[in-house]
Amino acid sequence: MPAADTGSASIELTPLRAALLHWFDHAGRDLPWRVGPEGGRDPYRVWVAEILLQQTQVVRGWPYYVRFLETFPTVEALAAAPQDAVLKAWEGCGYYARARNLHRAAGVVAREGGFPSTYDGWLALPGVGPYTGAAVSSLAYGEARAVSDGNVRRVLARLWGERQPTERWVQAQADALLDPGRPAAWNEAVMDLGATVCTPKAPDCPACPLREWCAAYASGEPTAYPAPKRRAEARTVRAVALLVGDAEQALLEQRQGTLLGGLYGLPLEEVRPDETGGAALARLQARLQLSSAAPALLGEVRHGMTHRRLEVEVYRLDAAQAPRPLDRVADAALSRLDHKALALLQGPQRLL
Ligand code: ADE
Repeated sequence: MPAADTGSASIELTPLRAALLHWFDHAGRDLPWRVGPEGGRDPYRVWVAEILLQQTQVVRGWPYYVRFLETFPTVEALAAAPQDAVLKAWEGCGYYARARNLHRAAGVVAREGGFPSTYDGWLALPGVGPYTGAAVSSLAYGEARAVSDGNVRRVLARLWGERQPTERWVQAQADALLDPGRPAAWNEAVMDLGATVCTPKAPDCPACPLREWCAAYASGEPTAYPAPKRRAEARTVRAVALLVGDAEQALLEQRQGTLLGGLYGLPLEEVRPDETGGAALARLQARLQLSSAAPALLGEVRHGMTHRRLEVEVYRLDAAQAPRPLDRVADAALSRLDHKALALLQGPQRLL
């Protein structure tokens, strides 16, 4: 009989696994990437979903997923598209390096004539780490690989009463618990349990199939597991941006670097710690070869990213000042930050 060594006791795993899988067979979610039989899901659909959902909850990511799949129904269509079109389809999802890697990986898959069918093969693709590799190789190919993400971490920390789960601990527990007979269903089941029952703030313990084994439930304080992670303070960065034109036609620049690289946006300059916004604005105007006409302040937008919080003063200049033809805004992939800046044209409200 398989048993888990949870540190304090050995627990017989067969009934625990059966309870979760039974629950999943009745309560598992019908999601747009669950196309195909258990362990034989469509790899393209699973892969795109796993990449998109890495920093996004299912409910929020769902419409973006559907739109992306409509735009690029196959890996060949994705591989053949220009990067700008891929970023446009990813617009609003954030973390654009994911879209750039997805696109590069699609190129590799198309050149090699098909998807890898093993965990190790998937790991070799750009943007695919242990989580995505385990998800796709189990869900689409039935390989016995346990996924370990935020949901899994919370479910396992509660089940075994671990307040400070390390990544190693989570992966080891996930590996030990994985049902070798139904690895794909097991992974989907843990994800669904974490998303719908074992939620961070309001777990529905009466509905949980694992309640009788759950140390956190037994403690009477399930939400105390795992202990909240201490987050490093996001650094605040000030910047100025210039809207030359309007919400339909504006001067846009393609951003460089890893953060929002590849996306288009309003021309922007960081305000250095030792200077005023006015000095950064003058630098921006000089860089764009704009006359020294004083731009009008349109408003301020704030935008939070993982490690940085941007506070951007947005200024406006008349289209007649533009040194070159304006760009069509609707055709460009813009970050959420730039959509907020353009929304300032609709009134003085702040979209924070
Ligand atoms: N979250 C991330 N990947 C998921 C999946 N395959 N099913 C449900 N939720 C998920």
